[in-house]
Order: sequence, then structure tokens, then C-alpha cells
Amino acid sequence: MIIAIDGPAASGKGTLGKRLAHHYGYRHLDTGVIYRAVAYALMQSGHDLRDEAAAVQAALELDPEKFGNPALKTQAAGEGASIVSAIPRVREVLLNFQRQFAAGPPGAVLDGRDIGTVICPDADVKIFVVADPKVRARRRTMEARARGEEADEAAVLADIIQRDERDKNRSIAPLKPAADAYLLDNSQLDIEGGVRAAIDIIEAVR
Ligand code: C5P
Repeated sequence: MIIAIDGPAASGKGTLGKRLAHHYGYRHLDTGVIYRAVAYALMQSGHDLRDEAAAVQAALELDPEKFGNPALKTQAAGEGASIVSAIPRVREVLLNFQRQFAAGPPGAVLDGRDIGTVICPDADVKIFVVADPKVRARRRTMEARARGEEADEAAVLADIIQRDERDKNRSIAPLKPAADAYLLDNSQLDIEGGVRAAIDIIEAVR
């Protein structure tokens, strides 16, 4: 069983993915972390984020052991991820890693932007998570502050809108719901409510 969860920045898809994986005893991959790790590697080595050769090299050298690095959660890494993720060769290099993860037993939950459309077009269930941009900005700001970072809600909102635009309008694997995805709007839901709504969808189709 493969559960594909896609959606825009800070829509809650990561938390939802983690919770669903726990509920079903499946493995979970937050695919945004992969692009964040590539961007972070370039930032650390002083490369331009649009340097295709360096980005491809960083993607080839990806080390999943480092996915837990808190530096990957920052705004800067997210913004960088949205730049490197628009490079077709980078996406190509990272495709197999994601597909292999999805294929292993006992089942997997992957969340990202193109899981239902490109990575796992045959996923058993596809959920596209949306939420009002202002709600997303508020949640992201609170999370950043909880980590001890300074965060200005208006700036976070501007970043979210800019990132969504870039992700939606890129030529390769743009952010969009798969034709057979279920839409889940969690603007008015808390985490538990979102998890329950997703489980209802999954139970109805499996
Ligand atoms: O979800 P997260 O905020 O961690 O994603 C960071 C960036 O990585 C996104 O803005 C998007 O550009 C890119 N990404 C992607 N495809 C995915 C996951 C993330 O292009 N499957």
C-alpha cells in the first residue's frame, strides 16, 4: 500500500504523513527534506543554488543519515529547496531513491509536491492537502518560534506565496493535484481532525 500526500508549503502534509505512517505501521518519507538537503549542501559549500552541475552532484551524494539535521527545517533551506527542485536533472537523480522507498514492505507514506503525479502515479490513495495561506503562515510562524527562531508572520506569508507560485509554475513536476487525488482542506481542522479526515478517505478506498 502506498499513500501519496501532496500539497503546498506548510499545508500540514508532513505532520499528516508522519501520523498516517504511524497509524498504519508504514514507513514515511518527507520528500521535501531531500530537496532541502540538496539546497543545504550547496549553501554550505558556497555554491549558487542555480548551479546545475553542483546541484546534481549534491543530489548524487545525498546522505539520508543527515535528513534529521535541524538546519534543514529553516526558511532559508525551504526557499533554497524550491530553487534547486526546479532543476530537471536534480529531480531525475532523486526519482529512483523515492520510488525505491515507496516500493518496500510493508507500505509507505510519501509526502511532497509530485508524489501522486510523478513519483507514485499508481499510489493506492492520493490526498492533496490544502489550507488557507494565512493559516499556513500562522502555523509556520508558531513552529519557527517554538524552535527559538525569530519569525515575522507577514514575511512567512510572503515566502509561502512565493514558494507556491514557483512550485506551481515550474515546467517540471509542478505542484498540482493528481486527477484522482482527494482534496483535504485543513484550514479549519487541528492535527487530529486532519488525521481523522485522511483516515476516513483511506478507509473508503482501500
Ligand atoms: O515540503 P517542503 O517545504 O519541505 O519542500 C521544500 C521545497 O522542496 C518545496 O517548496 C518544493 O519546491 C520542493 N519539493 C518538490 N517536490 C517534492 C517535495 C518538495 O519540488 N516532492
